[in-house]
Amino acid sequence: MYTSRITGMGHFVPDNIVTNENLSKMMDTSDAWIQERTGIKERRWIVEGSGETAATMGAKAARIAINKAGLTKDDIDFIVFATLSPDMFFPGCGVQIQDMLDMPTIGALDVRNQCSGFVYALSVADQFIKTGMYKNILVIGSEFHSGGLDKTTRGRGVTVIFGDGAGAAILSRSEDENRGILSSHLHSEGKHARELTVEAPSIAHWVPQIMEDNDPDDESYYPYMNGTFVFKHAISRFSEVILEGLEKNNLQTTDIDMLIPHQANLRIAQFIQKKFKLSDDQVFNNIMKYGNTTAASVIIALTEAFSEGKIKEGDLVVLAAFGSGFTWGSVIMRW
Ligand code: ACO
Repeated sequence: MYTSRITGMGHFVPDNIVTNENLSKMMDTSDAWIQERTGIKERRWIVEGSGETAATMGAKAARIAINKAGLTKDDIDFIVFATLSPDMFFPGCGVQIQDMLDMPTIGALDVRNQCSGFVYALSVADQFIKTGMYKNILVIGSEFHSGGLDKTTRGRGVTVIFGDGAGAAILSRSEDENRGILSSHLHSEGKHARELTVEAPSIAHWVPQIMEDNDPDDESYYPYMNGTFVFKHAISRFSEVILEGLEKNNLQTTDIDMLIPHQANLRIAQFIQKKFKLSDDQVFNNIMKYGNTTAASVIIALTEAFSEGKIKEGDLVVLAAFGSGFTWGSVIMRW
């Protein structure tokens, strides 16, 4: 059986920086509240009318990743695209990328797993490579939150944490069984689906009825999050799924060279760091400047950690994520 390893990565974030101070002019919030609760200082939001979307950002990140892998678009066998903010209700962003990058008629699959989206997508790609079906898979996480947020005081509990951005990785076939993805671990608990959700637009809401109501106060189009409930579950699930991955590979927390946690809230990452007694060099965070970019966050952080020289060949790298669904997962890699 083959193994798979990341051979190229790239990320893209919009130029437009939105600081906490900027938000405090739109809603009743403050830099102090946001930083104290989340660690976020600023995030990137797409400028309205710029034409940027989850798919266009994903395409930009993908071009960089393909280039860094030393490949061309024609070497890619399959696309896996993770997002909760697709350009269209259907089809998914994967086929848009295939078109934007002028790729041949390869398969494209969309993953709808929110904050765990990239971890799930990477795991899916890993299975295709391990079985020998594909050689090079383009895995993308991209998120355009800002077009769907309630930017008034009503939405402040959710809106301040989300940012826009995209990341991409090329997962390639390898014959070195000591390197690359060692294992991945995926979980879900659908009974908590409504604790973090955007309910509409959805067919379940009967589209003709939605159009007839045309209700500007209908909040079901905006994200709803039971923040404290999500926070508590995130902390325990992150810990569990990291330990599950380590145990599977007969490893311990002391073996971790780099933990890339999904950037949901700096306080969650700090809790895990403290619990596992990891040093600042063993955990990478960039939520301070990008906020929570959901399916893009893990790959943006991995790309930055690598480009800053914080990941070296042979390092044990752990990716972990938790989010809406609830869904959560981890990927254990030997770089
Ligand atoms: N500015 C000022 N005050 C605010 C803001 C704001 N932006 N947002 C909420 N408040 C107020 C609330 O109204 C509330 O006031 P009250 O006590 O008078 O009612 C008070 O602050 C506390 O509100 P909480 O919602 O309890 O705040 P909490 O401490 O839980 O922090 C936060 C909110 C940061 C969102 C936190 O709950 C969190 O990070 N949760 C986990 C997020 C997460 O991991 N999500 C998963 C990934 S996302 C995905 O999958 C799509």
